[in-house]
Amino acid sequence: MAAGRALALALAMGMLASACAPRPGEAVAAEHGAEAAAVHPGEAAYEQWCASCHDNGAETGAPSLAAIRTLNRATVKYALELGYMSQLATDVPKEELAQLIDWIPSAEGVNDTWIEAARCPVKAREVRLDGAPRISTTFGVTNDATRAQSAEATGISAEQMKDLEVAWVAAFPQTPTMRSQPVIVGDTIFVAATDSGRLYALDTNTGCVKWHYVSDMTLRSSLTFAEMARGKGAIVMGDAAGKVHAVDAQTGRALWVTDVKMNSLNRITGAPVVHNGKVLAPISVIESNFPPDDGYECCKGQGAVVALDLASGEKLWLGRTINEDAKPTRLGRTGTQQWGPAGAMVWSTPTIDPKRNLVIIGTGENLSWPATETSDAIIAYDIDTGERRWVFQATKADIWNSACGRRGANCDWPGEYHSPDHDFGATSMLVTTGNGTELIIAGQKSGVVWALNPDTGQLVWSNKIGRGSAMGGVHWGMAYDDASEMIFAPMNDPSAMPENPNTGPGIHALNASTGAIAWSYKTNARDCGEDIPAAMANQPAPEWRLVPIAAPILPPPPRITQAPVQAPAAPRAVPTEGASRSPASAPASAPRARCRLGMSPAPLVIDGAVITGTSQGMLRVFDGATGAVLFEYMTNRAFPETVTGIAGQGGSLDSAPYIAGDGALFVQSGYARFGQPPGNVLIAFRPKTH
Ligand code: HEC
Repeated sequence: MAAGRALALALAMGMLASACAPRPGEAVAAEHGAEAAAVHPGEAAYEQWCASCHDNGAETGAPSLAAIRTLNRATVKYALELGYMSQLATDVPKEELAQLIDWIPSAEGVNDTWIEAARCPVKAREVRLDGAPRISTTFGVTNDATRAQSAEATGISAEQMKDLEVAWVAAFPQTPTMRSQPVIVGDTIFVAATDSGRLYALDTNTGCVKWHYVSDMTLRSSLTFAEMARGKGAIVMGDAAGKVHAVDAQTGRALWVTDVKMNSLNRITGAPVVHNGKVLAPISVIESNFPPDDGYECCKGQGAVVALDLASGEKLWLGRTINEDAKPTRLGRTGTQQWGPAGAMVWSTPTIDPKRNLVIIGTGENLSWPATETSDAIIAYDIDTGERRWVFQATKADIWNSACGRRGANCDWPGEYHSPDHDFGATSMLVTTGNGTELIIAGQKSGVVWALNPDTGQLVWSNKIGRGSAMGGVHWGMAYDDASEMIFAPMNDPSAMPENPNTGPGIHALNASTGAIAWSYKTNARDCGEDIPAAMANQPAPEWRLVPIAAPILPPPPRITQAPVQAPAAPRAVPTEGASRSPASAPASAPRARCRLGMSPAPLVIDGAVITGTSQGMLRVFDGATGAVLFEYMTNRAFPETVTGIAGQGGSLDSAPYIAGDGALFVQSGYARFGQPPGNVLIAFRPKTH
């Protein structure tokens, strides 16, 4: 059965590699011509065990072979032995696994040799913290997560945004995904090349390297800068194996590394935040990918927020999202033991409400039966004790895992449930409206934006601005502009609701007091690089401005619980570009059959201007008040000249790719997931000097 297992799994996930599709391996073989001559046994093992998914990334979500071949050996070994691929790899004979680990990484070790040449001159090598402005210190820019920066803090005004040019580009080796938002203090930008496990301190003016930190584990979260005692600072971040790292911001030396896993299924996706000497780290789960295997005992992973002492890394409290451990529940239809409750993982960066002493998180769906009252919810915990203060559940009985694409044995449960996969992947914002009212604004993958009372978690207003989908709805986050009192909510849905033409991929500006839409921009072929006139933002008809809905959203009545469900990587209505592109070699002008219009990344506000992007790689800056386009730039292109001396390739904009400071707008490009274009660059834009 061994031979057929990976294929069977691929079929179970609803993916069938077409026999005549171009093989990404060919491009790689051409690049590694010398190796290709003698066929490595790892290549045959790849064909047998891995190709069904990795040659078919647009449907399966798997990075292309070319993208995983840029990873280093430690990353590949980790993925197969402990990480995302470990469940699939349990069937691969040990010998073949070793051959795969030997063959896949196209370079033996980690490539750090470029760093010497890219190092700052001695005079510019110091990371100055004394008196240096804390320009952006975490995923949300500040702990209220409004993702707003001022002209004063960044040195760039909205007006200057109209006339930007590329000042320099840094590219990093062995990392096809740029998923971690940098932080900026003074003239230092801290940036992680997550796949290669590297954190760098770069000079904001030239991109030269001040120091680098080596993690033996794939890094994963965005970064946070924390003030330590005696004028010291730390960069805090999470890795793919559930550890929190604190690194000395001046030297790059590790201060501490704390394992916060509850079990081997945990990892860290959102950024840990720091408040009053405490690190508050969100805990997510790797397990959602395993259940297509009917023999997998689904599911045991759960979410939490954990508090650590900033000085020592010592654990202070654990705030679980589900208060009981997963237990054996029932036998699935193929006789495999099922476990639960599971899920309610925390994908996003927590939000801090200092006045109420709350840490606020958003949770994901349940991964198996039974459903809990804490899935697809916003939960507030007391920062000192970890005690749960309130829960707002947006969607009830959402049980989903990656077996649900084809309703495999691990997506078949008793009772009433539905499987829309509508988690809160986005960080909530704590905003203050003009009349002084404070609100928690939460954006869900269901396409609903919710406003809650921070004292109680009670609903104040809601607006359904999108159809909702497994990829979002609101995917990674939103931004808020104090001056205009406008919320900017991007939509990553692939298509519009037939009954509401104002929905679909794009971005909406919402009034913070009412939730009503002020303007909307719908992405179009220009956002995929087509040379057509830029669309204008529109003011939707009155009936599409506010579509309030009640919480919690309930499952449909029993008879129709078999409604079609979303596949793990929902095939886009707008077909997506093939994943068979090498980050190092593919030109931006490659035949473009497909176009990704969704706005997945969390936007950023700078001096009232809104920075957005598409997963196709188009950067687009709007005037926040009117929706007028101030600037656009297709990042999905080759950058042969980089300050790091590494060949650069832009790709998808995803996660949280923008941050500004010291007179520059920094944009990271590349995201080798879900068939999106890989890339390895950090681009510094500055106002043109005429
Ligand atoms: C059932 C589909 C499927 C099969 C079969 C499969 N993979 Fe994957 N693989 C994925 C998906 C999906 C991801 C992306 C996971 C994520 O989003 O982090 C992935 C990611 C990876 C990564 C990147 C991990 C990282 O941390 O960046 C590596 C390396 C990898 N796979 C290797 C393999 C190898 C080697 C095989 C064959 C033994 C294999 N995969 C078989 C679906 C599959």
